[in-house]
Amino acid sequence: MKKRVRPFIVGNWKMNPATLARAEKIWVDVQKGLVGRKGQSDVAIAPPLPFIIDLKEMAGPQKIEFVSQDVSFHPEGAHTGEVSVSQLRSFGVKCSIVGHSERRADGETDQMINRKVLALHEVKSSAIICVGEKSRDSTGDYFNVVEDQLSATLAGVKVEDLSRVIIAYEPVWAIGSGKNANASQVEEMKLFIQKVLSDIYPREKASMVRIIYGGSVNEDNAEELLKVGTVDGFLIGGASLDAKEFVSIIKIADDYARFV
Ligand code: PGA
Repeated sequence: MKKRVRPFIVGNWKMNPATLARAEKIWVDVQKGLVGRKGQSDVAIAPPLPFIIDLKEMAGPQKIEFVSQDVSFHPEGAHTGEVSVSQLRSFGVKCSIVGHSERRADGETDQMINRKVLALHEVKSSAIICVGEKSRDSTGDYFNVVEDQLSATLAGVKVEDLSRVIIAYEPVWAIGSGKNANASQVEEMKLFIQKVLSDIYPREKASMVRIIYGGSVNEDNAEELLKVGTVDGFLIGGASLDAKEFVSIIKIADDYARFV
């Protein structure tokens, strides 16, 4: 029997907004919107890296984690433009998104993503591993795509590090398109991902891995995606830049966590 896990809501700001001042405004508004919240779900934001230290300093009493949108698999040294797992940890960032489809589109491979996951685990940080098919056809090949991504990106990940793995199912066709995967498609893929994980790891451990969904999540579809889609949270792009909408999705997740 699967034990309930706390929903995990992550806002992926991508390369937005254009200025620090605008980032501060979103952050202030999110925190205002969450005043008084008891916090039945875990919340994180992934702003552009240069903004994180400033935003962290402005953090109020709500427990909201900061996550990076990417990380280097190199431990240190001559790698211009890269940021290492230990540099992130040194300013309190203990979790990174890896393998986002926008990075895969820029040439990131499953093998590179796997090295990032292992590098994060080396310093006891967590990885949000993005998987998802580019498109769907009636042959169901998208299941193979996701299975291959999972087995390649999890290669060598020890069972004791599974608590530091979150899988984000993000069908590429649903990202930024305004066309989310529907709740039954999401539920079906979640069950499939769970099965793939329990083929690799002991079922009990595999069932504790949070499987979240991303792709045009908004305040109108969030409840159904949680209830019917049965995912353990969301990776939210566009809607996370709108403080009011992001807050409203967090509250939907809190209510869901309270009553199921
Ligand atoms: P979206 O992005 O919510 O704007 O579709 C999701 C993501 O890219 O993580």
